[in-house]
Amino acid sequence: MAKRRASFVCQNCGTTHSKWTGRCDACGAWNSLVEESASGGGALGGPSKGASIQGRAVTLSSLDHVEKPLPRLATGIAELDRVTGGGFVRGSALLVGGDPGIGKSTLLMQVAAGLAGRSARVVYISGEEALGQVRLRAERLGVSQRPVHIASETNLEDILATLDAGDVPDLVVLDSIQTLWSSSVDSAPGTVTQVRSCAQQMIRYAKRTGACVILVGHVTKDGQIAGPRVVEHMVDAVLYFEGDRTHHFRILRGVKNRFGATDEIGVFEMTGGGLQEVGNPSELFLGDRLVETPGSVVFAGLEGTRPILVEIQALVAPSALGTPRRAVVGWDSNRLAMVLAVLEARCGVRFSGHDVYLAVAGGLRLTEPAADLAVAGALVASLTGLSLPASQVYFGEIGLSGAIRSAPQAVLRMKEAARLGFEEAVTAPLAKERDANTGLRLNAHTRLESLVADLAASAAAQKTQGAGAGRDAVPLQAAQ
Ligand code: TYD
Ligand code: MG
Repeated sequence: MAKRRASFVCQNCGTTHSKWTGRCDACGAWNSLVEESASGGGALGGPSKGASIQGRAVTLSSLDHVEKPLPRLATGIAELDRVTGGGFVRGSALLVGGDPGIGKSTLLMQVAAGLAGRSARVVYISGEEALGQVRLRAERLGVSQRPVHIASETNLEDILATLDAGDVPDLVVLDSIQTLWSSSVDSAPGTVTQVRSCAQQMIRYAKRTGACVILVGHVTKDGQIAGPRVVEHMVDAVLYFEGDRTHHFRILRGVKNRFGATDEIGVFEMTGGGLQEVGNPSELFLGDRLVETPGSVVFAGLEGTRPILVEIQALVAPSALGTPRRAVVGWDSNRLAMVLAVLEARCGVRFSGHDVYLAVAGGLRLTEPAADLAVAGALVASLTGLSLPASQVYFGEIGLSGAIRSAPQAVLRMKEAARLGFEEAVTAPLAKERDANTGLRLNAHTRLESLVADLAASAAAQKTQGAGAGRDAVPLQAAQ
């Protein structure tokens, strides 16, 4: 066996250093190096009982072998099954990540109880809570009568011995991977080496027995699963459970899936009796949105790789001040100044006598330039008293020339909007014709002037129909 050698592993990025430094050279994180036993990785190779040094030849196969459809374990929770691509795959390992307190244990207890109620053998092992706490939660969820096998344990060898003692379970939930520790590794629980080793052994268990293993992982402040990305690489699927704890909705998002698509989300609502599926999520996201409000626009945004729909509200009101106010919540004020300037200079829309207030609903902070078009739409709609159709989403970047540029991942944004019940996207023309099949009608504009002219015409039409919300429309002249 190789000589034991201490090494220092960055807990942020997983890079191994031979000596301790205050800052990781690879990722730049400060104070993230922890001493771990380098031979701890030996556990990854598993017990080397009778292993010969000489390798064993494996049979090579061809690609054209017809595979049977994947054996799946449908949970019956439609929002979850959609994200996993039709249910958990037997013999696979899945990681569910999320902030502490977001509802991971709640969701997994509901899943475990649901499957147990349909005669699956389910083992739920909590490393974080005592059995009493797990039972209390089950009682609160109204599932305490379901035949779920529970245990409170953190030692991996004990867990594996327990699992091997009974029939092979259909589903094993380990809550959480950060609390597990293997005796074959010297490091503390939660360190990269422990997390990697425990995850690896559980994945091997899943492959060996055909059980589906779900690992719960906490997410660090920067949104990564602690014990960094190492686990993400190893498992077959990664789901993130996210949402603002002060709001009641939660989104389950697939970020990796070896057995299905990843651009699906599942939406849940946290209630007193656990998580409820939300059949029509747009109601929840944009629920407090007054549909017929002038100055309200839905922006189809992207957070990292994740599409997210947000309401942008603008209020343009006549100002009594010499220098009108410009107040922004959740967006860059310089960017607002730029959009206002382009609207004035290129489209002839004057805001100089008006205070302008702009807010991103829900306390979200947007950094994307693609919000420009939604902001411009909200500003013009508020100025003219125009109520925009509730079925529209806006996205696109506005150049200083007034040109509208498409945003990255336009198709992804539109698919998300279509899934959330929207019908029309106001944006730049799509780069590729074949991308048009997103389920949304495309209302494409290459220049801001043409969008403003459209909005002005709608405002005039609304006004003549007497639907102008009792406000006089401000005349606009779209500059050519
Ligand atoms: P939990 O599943 O323990 O979160 P995690 O495992 O991700 O850390 O959920 C914690 C929160 O959910 C807690 O603050 C209480 C709330 N909750 C409800 O609102 N209703 C419920 O029925 C349950 C079980 C929890
Ligand atoms: Mg928990």
